[in-house]
Amino acid sequence: MEQTEVVKPETLDELIKILHKIFESDRINVEEVQNIMESYDSNPQEWKKYAKFDQYRYTRNLVDEGNGKFNLMILCWGEGHGSSIHDHTNSHCFMKLLQGQLKETLFEWPRRESQGEMAQKSQRILQENKVAYINDSIGLHRVENVSHIEGAVSLHLYSPPFQTCQTFDQRTGHKNTVTMTFWSRFGERNPNENAAPQENN
Ligand SMILES: [Fe+2]
Repeated sequence: MEQTEVVKPETLDELIKILHKIFESDRINVEEVQNIMESYDSNPQEWKKYAKFDQYRYTRNLVDEGNGKFNLMILCWGEGHGSSIHDHTNSHCFMKLLQGQLKETLFEWPRRESQGEMAQKSQRILQENKVAYINDSIGLHRVENVSHIEGAVSLHLYSPPFQTCQTFDQRTGHKNTVTMTFWSRFGERNPNENAAPQENN
């Protein structure tokens, strides 16, 4: 077992620098990335410029393009906002809570198209500063801010980056391919982002 020295990032910028370094390698140690993201103590002053909320649904805000190796983004979840059930297009997905709490529900892949109700595997509440990990071999998930009084903010790393994923209907298992867009990029509102429903992840 290879031992990696864990450097604690003191700021979000420092975390991004360390992530760039880690992802220079083509072999990713999931635990190492999880640990480094977890060891950053969320400081709203450092990420508030990316945290743009929408009244109607959660937003995806691009923070860093990771030299083409990963996408780092901040998702803002208003009260009651949630994702559809979705996959992760053969990528790694790390999700760190920066503020509030999120409920994650895991599902099994449908065995066939239109199989009926999808099988739920587990459910958990993700707490501030904790990092969750998922990929397609673990299953599918839905993420929700179930709070009626508090917004939630999460930091997501996807590697390799992807622009489309599949969403699933819980009742039937029927799937759709959707293209994801950014509400803002590098702290600036994205003028190309329109009112079309933006799906997932
Ligand atoms: Fe996801």
